[in-house]
Amino acid sequence: MDATSALPWFHTTTIYQIYPRSFYDSNGDGIGDIQGIIQKLDYIQSMGYQTIWCSPFYKGPQADFGYDIADYESIDPCYGTMHDAEHLIAEVHKRGMKIVFDMVMNHTSNQNPWFIESASSRDNPKADWYLWRDKPNNWQSMTGGSGWHYCKARNQYYWASFLPFQPDLNYRNPEVKKAMLDVVRFWLDKGVDGYRLDIFNVLYKDSEFRNNPFKMKAAPSSDDPSGFFQNPQYTMNLPESMDFARELRSVCDKYGDRMLLGEVTGNRQTIRKFTGETKNDGLGLVFDFEMLPFKFQAGYFHSLIANLEKDFPDPFMPVYVFSNHDRTRSMKRLGNDVRKAKVLHLMQLTVRGVPCMYQGEEIGMTDGHIAYKNGLDPIALKYRHVPRFIFDLMGETLNRDEVRTPMQWNDSANAGFSAAPKTWLPVNTDFARVNVDIESRDDNSLLQLVKLVLNLRKDWPVLSNGSLELIEKNKLPKGVLAYKRKQGKQELLVLLNFTGKNSNIALGSDWRTICSIHKTDGCTGKNVTLGPFGGMILAK
Ligand code: GLC
Repeated sequence: MDATSALPWFHTTTIYQIYPRSFYDSNGDGIGDIQGIIQKLDYIQSMGYQTIWCSPFYKGPQADFGYDIADYESIDPCYGTMHDAEHLIAEVHKRGMKIVFDMVMNHTSNQNPWFIESASSRDNPKADWYLWRDKPNNWQSMTGGSGWHYCKARNQYYWASFLPFQPDLNYRNPEVKKAMLDVVRFWLDKGVDGYRLDIFNVLYKDSEFRNNPFKMKAAPSSDDPSGFFQNPQYTMNLPESMDFARELRSVCDKYGDRMLLGEVTGNRQTIRKFTGETKNDGLGLVFDFEMLPFKFQAGYFHSLIANLEKDFPDPFMPVYVFSNHDRTRSMKRLGNDVRKAKVLHLMQLTVRGVPCMYQGEEIGMTDGHIAYKNGLDPIALKYRHVPRFIFDLMGETLNRDEVRTPMQWNDSANAGFSAAPKTWLPVNTDFARVNVDIESRDDNSLLQLVKLVLNLRKDWPVLSNGSLELIEKNKLPKGVLAYKRKQGKQELLVLLNFTGKNSNIALGSDWRTICSIHKTDGCTGKNVTLGPFGGMILAK
């Protein structure tokens, strides 16, 4: 079926994730800030991204660098002021782009006045704003270990899904729901185009606090959040959280089309439920984290695309994401091979779905190496006594500092990120070779390819609106992935070579080249030759 052209903007857009602390430091204190983002908006616009998502810069102790909020309606001084935030929204809109903020609805900081009041006694007005129990049950937090923490003033325990300083709000209390929906409206009134929703799938917990069942699984994985030897049946993906997705959507719909992009974990059928059953009346989009630990193989992506087409058919839309501020960068998973990164991102930007790229991914930034014991990240510190080779073997890092090193703008001091003598995290040592400046001047760089394809999306709406048809594997040489995008009269064919060898493909009819990774990737009417890790977009 041809997809319709009446898709909401958030189903056809492209997203660039900014981690403000590490993007650009405008005032020389070693920490990125909102003015820094404003100064670099032209760069983002020139690449062709349409939407930016900013990780949080609200007021908070920064114990989890923004994901611990003490006041949702003000800006932390280390990032700027309310005026800066308003200016940012205006400057993004001036460029015809959209901006979504990060909204952490599940938990606040333990320094939030709501929590301080709630924790002060058993009978204060906010006593029931968080989850309090006389005795812990068996629930494990998402980061491992019991999520129940003792509070002396109440002689009770409070629940925290993530880290102890991030107590969970109680959404069964209507006052809490109202307070958070007011926060949502506060920023919508200021003009934000929507939200990325932090760990949205744990918002509701079992009202009876039943113990989670045992499951023989030590660590959570991208497609199955079970871990720490339990199935999080009563702490995650409750139907009430899915209902709340619809409620939140209806609040936001009053403002016109607004993006709601959920961070949800679970298998694909489960995460789909957050977007709606038959209509897309829940969250507009959800991340699909199953693809974060991807395998660089044509067969892997053939199955991935087939499954996403099955589980997110029109009127739903999948999100393709390979990096973020929490997980190993895609470049590291690719063995720092820029040839592979070009194939990966040519695919990401041409499949049917919303591509979401993380700052620095467009230039091939890779993970830094920072010992867990030196980590600022509270997760790294929690696991500092565990030998890191265990996680290295799994291809993951538990020190998120490594994926948050400053953006590499040029080859000057601190990679042009900051004029401070010391930046909050060290700059990756490869910055003289991997930076925006150098890649902007190199026609063969990853950055130029990303830019080319992002801009092609404007001339070829079929890339964002069209249907997708996978070419069967038996019609292609081994290691080649191919699919067609169709809408109305537009028809494109994308061919990607996941191998280091030449590949010849007979097309059966005439096609012309729209773009190719290498000059040597060629199409002569009915025949295509793809060089090693080559890729092309062809038009009928
Ligand atoms: C999400 C964020 C992560 C944060 C956590 C707790 O997973 O992406 O950075 O630490 O939630 O808010």
